[in-house]
Amino acid sequence: MALLRRRLKLVVTVMMVNLFIFILISRNSGQDKNGHQKVNIPSKPFWSKVAPSTAYWNRQQQVLDFQNNPVLMANLSSSELPDWLNNTSVTSDLCKPNFRVATQVKDYNSLPDRFKDFLLYMQCRSYPLMVDQPDICKEPPFLLLAVKSLVPHFDRRQAIRESWGRAGVIANRTVVTIFLLGNATAGDHHPDLSGMLQYESAHYKDLIQWGYRDSFFNLTVKEVLFLDWIQTRCSGAQFIFKGDDDVFVNTYRILDFLKGLSGPKARDLFVGDVITNAGPHRDKKVKYFIPESMYVGTYPPYAGGGGYLYSGDIAARLHNVSQHVALYPIDDVYTGMCLRKLGLAPEKHKGFRTFNIEEKYRSNPCAYKSLMLVHPRTPQEMNQIWSWLRSPDLNCQ
Ligand SMILES: *[C@@H]1O[C@H](CO)[C@@H](O)[C@H](O)[C@H]1NC(C)=O
Ligand SMILES: *[C@@H]1O[C@H](CO)[C@@H](O)[C@H](O)[C@H]1NC(C)=O
Ligand SMILES: *[C@@H]1O[C@H](CO)[C@@H](O)[C@H](O)[C@H]1NC(C)=O
Ligand SMILES: *[C@@H]1O[C@H](CO)[C@@H](O)[C@H](O)[C@H]1NC(C)=O
Ligand SMILES: *[C@@H]1O[C@H](CO)[C@@H](O)[C@H](O)[C@H]1NC(C)=O
Ligand SMILES: *[C@@H]1O[C@H](CO)[C@@H](O)[C@H](O)[C@H]1NC(C)=O
Ligand SMILES: *[C@@H]1O[C@H](CO)[C@@H](O)[C@H](O)[C@H]1NC(C)=O
Repeated sequence: MALLRRRLKLVVTVMMVNLFIFILISRNSGQDKNGHQKVNIPSKPFWSKVAPSTAYWNRQQQVLDFQNNPVLMANLSSSELPDWLNNTSVTSDLCKPNFRVATQVKDYNSLPDRFKDFLLYMQCRSYPLMVDQPDICKEPPFLLLAVKSLVPHFDRRQAIRESWGRAGVIANRTVVTIFLLGNATAGDHHPDLSGMLQYESAHYKDLIQWGYRDSFFNLTVKEVLFLDWIQTRCSGAQFIFKGDDDVFVNTYRILDFLKGLSGPKARDLFVGDVITNAGPHRDKKVKYFIPESMYVGTYPPYAGGGGYLYSGDIAARLHNVSQHVALYPIDDVYTGMCLRKLGLAPEKHKGFRTFNIEEKYRSNPCAYKSLMLVHPRTPQEMNQIWSWLRSPDLNCQ
């Protein structure tokens, strides 16, 4: 009896809801009483005037958005532009330090030096190519492994060459490995390693170096220079892995994963350890600290810079769109910003472990079999894990 009553109640409720939806739809069907389609015309402008952001990066981006908007630019002469938009447009040489930032960023003088350095050169995206390998992609590779390194990290590069970055034909696919370097400037009190670097470069022919100061906040410079380099030297690469020199990459697993892709899934590939719902750190002590005078807002989804994998097609699109995105001091966030502008989002893959794996599995060879990337690993660990994975005796369930 109780069951029947409950069922009846349910049926009545569903009917009431349907009736309600029917009334809603028929009221809003957009037709007048003669059955003509009604067009809603806004009676006043429904957009608001762009007000300048107080944060420096956001304001630079507003200017870029404005300058790259063909509809707005076609009908406006520069004299009609609001002053704050017109003004930022740049002096002749983008690579001269822009001292105007000292007055345009309100707490400039109290910011740590790395911010001052970044802001002074934020407009500059071209630096001389000092070491190049123009023919390294003569045979377009299936996979290009691009490793962000620093001049003194000789041992990391060597371990990568001996292990996961071994170039040539692996699992019947061509792999090319390169190392991306900036310059360690004399002013930073680095010992002069240029002779050793020259030797390394002549011997292995896998270094790419640009003449800018290699620092954490200049990693975005490395990113845009690398995007340029791909288009001029390696545009035929089908897939690209870009990562740090302190990670282990299971190249076998990556090739295996890529072989299974085709069509749009391959064309739009961008996978990694994706971080969502993040924003700038406001604690001065954190490495990733960004002051409010520099950036406001949240971050788009982005793949952690330890390493991610994408298609050659995406590389070309990123190259184009990056010219419309103001440089941001954190390189992986910057790439996320470029993807968002393309209308794409990076995809999370659980094989990318930029925050390591549980300690109890770290010395278990089988733990690495199905992973694509683990961070961090020392040069010795890279060689050890690689020898495990290559061993014909490795028997994992
Ligand atoms: C832009 O200018 C053209 C001609 O100069 C005019 O026909 C058009 O309506 C203008 N567009 C806007 C959005 O003001
Ligand atoms: C905008 O810049 C142009 C030159 O680039 C100048 O002639 C014009 O007066 C400027 N307008 C304003 C409002 O500052
Ligand atoms: C515009 O630029 C001039 C100098 O080029 C500077 O004096 C002025 O303060 C700037 N205005 C703004 C709003 O940035
Ligand atoms: C190796 O790859 C080529 C295409 O790159 C393919 O034609 C060939 O069948 C592959 N060989 C084996 C043994 O898988
Ligand atoms: C690179 O750094 C070295 C010192 O380590 C310096 O002598 C050289 O001029 C720098 N080159 C460029 C292009 O900055
Ligand atoms: C980035 O590199 C340029 C060119 O070497 C340098 O002037 C600037 O200080 C560097 N920025 C940072 C944050 O190190
Ligand atoms: C990049 O931009 C150029 C010039 O606007 C265009 O010809 C090319 O098709 C674009 N490439 C991609 C992949 O969007």
